[in-house]
Amino acid sequence: QRGWGQGSLQLGTMGTEYITYKGMLFPRLDYSPETISYLQSEFQVRDDDVFNVTYPKSGTNWMLEILSLIRCDGDPSWARSVLNWDRAPWIESNNGQEAALKYPPPRLLSSHMPLQFFPRSFQGSRAKVIYTLRSPKDVVTSYYHFTHIMHAFKDHGPLDAFLQDFLSGNVPYGSWFDHVAGWLGLRGQDNFFYITYEELQQDLRGSVQRISRFLGKELSEQQISSVVENASFQTMRRNKMCNFSEVPDEFMDHSKGQLLRKGVSGDWKNLLSEEQGRRIDTVYQEWMQGLGITFPWD
Ligand code: A3P
Repeated sequence: QRGWGQGSLQLGTMGTEYITYKGMLFPRLDYSPETISYLQSEFQVRDDDVFNVTYPKSGTNWMLEILSLIRCDGDPSWARSVLNWDRAPWIESNNGQEAALKYPPPRLLSSHMPLQFFPRSFQGSRAKVIYTLRSPKDVVTSYYHFTHIMHAFKDHGPLDAFLQDFLSGNVPYGSWFDHVAGWLGLRGQDNFFYITYEELQQDLRGSVQRISRFLGKELSEQQISSVVENASFQTMRRNKMCNFSEVPDEFMDHSKGQLLRKGVSGDWKNLLSEEQGRRIDTVYQEWMQGLGITFPWD
């Protein structure tokens, strides 16, 4: 369980606070300004790297499962035997970065970094980025629940306080709006692919085909069926290698919930008031109208 720091960090007061790097919050647990700074200026991206990039709670682990399965031509052995954070280490965390630097190429890597903190060496490289995004209202909902399960997050207080922090980018990894607008600025670049959580839900098979094509992988119908089956919510919920049941208790309160919580779209309606929904809409419109993209939730 090296991805979780092997207890090298003391939880308690430390683990529940954040660090700030260039104005952005990160969990103190397993993060440091040195590691993030190294990532940005010195980390060497390889042309054969594949990056799974997301804002938190946007379907990161789902995409990671899809990419793992595509990599193995639909064979689930790897996804069933190796923990997902070892299959695709987090390049910005201390332990993850160490693992990334030792990863035999071709590497599969994960990141929640906004574009401005992503390795500079990505620019001009042929490394591929798959960027998954999700409706901000469902992201807030999933994120709010997650902060109560994972000890790396501080208690942001009642929902309304969390929402305020979310809207102003005062949560780990900053503003959803800035993240999405930044990364989607790369659309049209042939090593950049983006897809929504909602598209994965509406048409997982078609999405897997599109992702495989982007990765230059020709999968048979049968292999695609295996990816779809093994990346389903039900199968992933049972797979200990991706359902977070193996995350040590010192990092996660398993009695409070699980990573694969509901796996649906529109759950925000069960949490947010109409007024809170409208507040998200207002900020959303300010940021997104200039992008000229229509999303499934628009
Ligand atoms: P909910 O909290 O809304 O259930 P991340 O991996 O970025 O942390 O995102 C977690 C969210 O993705 C959770 O959303 C989780 O249920 C959902 N998720 C993970 N695997 C999924 C799958 N196979 N199908 C649908 N949703 C999935």
